[in-house]
Amino acid sequence: MRNKTNKIAVMASGKGSNLAVILNAIEKGECAADVEVVICDKPNAGALAIAQDAGVPHVLFMNPKEYNSREAFDVACAEVIQKAGCQLIVLAGYMRILSPAFIQMFPEQIINIHPSLLPAFKGADAVGDALKAGVKVSGCTVHMVSEELDSGKILAQACVPVLEDDDWHSLHARIQEQEHKLYPQVVHQLVL
Ligand code: GAR
Repeated sequence: MRNKTNKIAVMASGKGSNLAVILNAIEKGECAADVEVVICDKPNAGALAIAQDAGVPHVLFMNPKEYNSREAFDVACAEVIQKAGCQLIVLAGYMRILSPAFIQMFPEQIINIHPSLLPAFKGADAVGDALKAGVKVSGCTVHMVSEELDSGKILAQACVPVLEDDDWHSLHARIQEQEHKLYPQVVHQLVL
């Protein structure tokens, strides 16, 4: 059995609303995780400021351009995460595909949230693809990260209606409401 710790690392590329709700749930005592590390691959990611404001001990912008390969970048991230003692990695709008080397270093320890009901609409624009397909129901999925993109074990899902007049932003906003309920709960269950 692995030596359990509540310490988690969050990797994000964007505005960081999922990171914010996880931090908020921790603050309210609803999530037993301890966010030790936040890594962003974009210098202007909102997640950086959110993490800094919350007093996360290790907040890093890691620049992929400073590394020779995807593997080298991922190994550098893995070193930070391991050194900080995190045993769960939470991808929260992290838009880089992780290399197999990284995934193999953390078996069953990386989770992701994806804005569709997987296995439908894998890939970078799940919301746009759902709209184009004309589905009447979509949602979000929390899943284990495996080497095949958006294909690891499904841990939790929530669904939302797709309305006639939805555009990308209205549908994404409705999906995010569900993400914000689901992700802190799943993180809590995994660190217990
Ligand atoms: C979320 O909707 C998440 O599902 C999506 O990025 C958004 C990040 O929002 N992730 C993916 O599309 C991964 N393929 P946030 O920065 O506000 O947390």
